Amino acid sequence: MPLVVFNQKGGVGKSTITCNLAAISASQGLRTLVIDLDSQGNSTSYLLGATARDDQPNVAGFFEHTLSYSFRPLPPTDFIVPTPFERLHLMPSSPALNELQTKLESRQKIFKLREALQELGNTYERIYIDTPPALNFFTRSALIGARGCLIPFDCDQFSRQALYTLMDNVQEIRADHNPKLVVEGIVVNQFQPRANLPLRMVNELIAEGLPVLQPYLPSSVKIRESHEQSLPMIFMDPNHKLTQALVALHDGLRN
Ligand SMILES: Nc1ncnc2c1ncn2[C@@H]1O[C@H](COP(=O)(O)OP(=O)(O)OP(=O)(O)O)[C@@H](O)[C@H]1O
Ligand SMILES: [Mg+2]
Repeated sequence: MPLVVFNQKGGVGKSTITCNLAAISASQGLRTLVIDLDSQGNSTSYLLGATARDDQPNVAGFFEHTLSYSFRPLPPTDFIVPTPFERLHLMPSSPALNELQTKLESRQKIFKLREALQELGNTYERIYIDTPPALNFFTRSALIGARGCLIPFDCDQFSRQALYTLMDNVQEIRADHNPKLVVEGIVVNQFQPRANLPLRMVNELIAEGLPVLQPYLPSSVKIRESHEQSLPMIFMDPNHKLTQALVALHDGLRN
């Protein structure tokens, strides 16, 4: 069930896809959670907008809590906040994540997120995890705890070369720690149907046997408006072609 959205390359659409798929789940009546593991906090500002507070519970608080052993630890729901959208909750990011990383690694806390995800599965029907553009402690924690992995791809030649390393990294984590992890597939993002190169590149990926999901997400300037207004596409413009593609992608995913 928990779905991690991951690509080491920056700016391919991880946060955009995480938040929009989550918003669609919530709009369809499912209790939904987003966990923002990226210290940049893009998903957090996208979903909370002006309602974000400096002292709100967050994911750094969750990880910090794992460092102080307690006979009765706080439940992971203590680090979650509601968003302005019904049924959509968030474990917000925090810049403090960066400083925590070395400590968490040396104290071997890599399985703590998995434990929390198991518990959160009792409260939430869908959990989406946004990750930073790096295979760091937090990304690995997410891949160890998740059931599915989505890989956004931006039709760029450098991204394409990086895809194979990325798939190897995911398969290694699967083999070592998480046999239940399934690569749901590659999400083609910012697709321009009228240009030849992106189509050729995607067809080559398919020919090479990579799991490319349908439909491709079109490029649209509307997404900037959606970020700026802190309003996911399903709430801002449900009939837009990008929204429709996101809904079709969402509905095509196994749960
Ligand atoms: N379908 C799309 N059409 C047009 N622009 C898009 C689309 N998807 C994403 N973008 C733009 O691409 C940029 C990167 O998107 P996003 O922040 O979601 O990527 P990311 O992979 O999370 O980045 P990072 O690695 O920095 O966390 C944003 O400015 C966003 O507006
Ligand atoms: Mg991001």
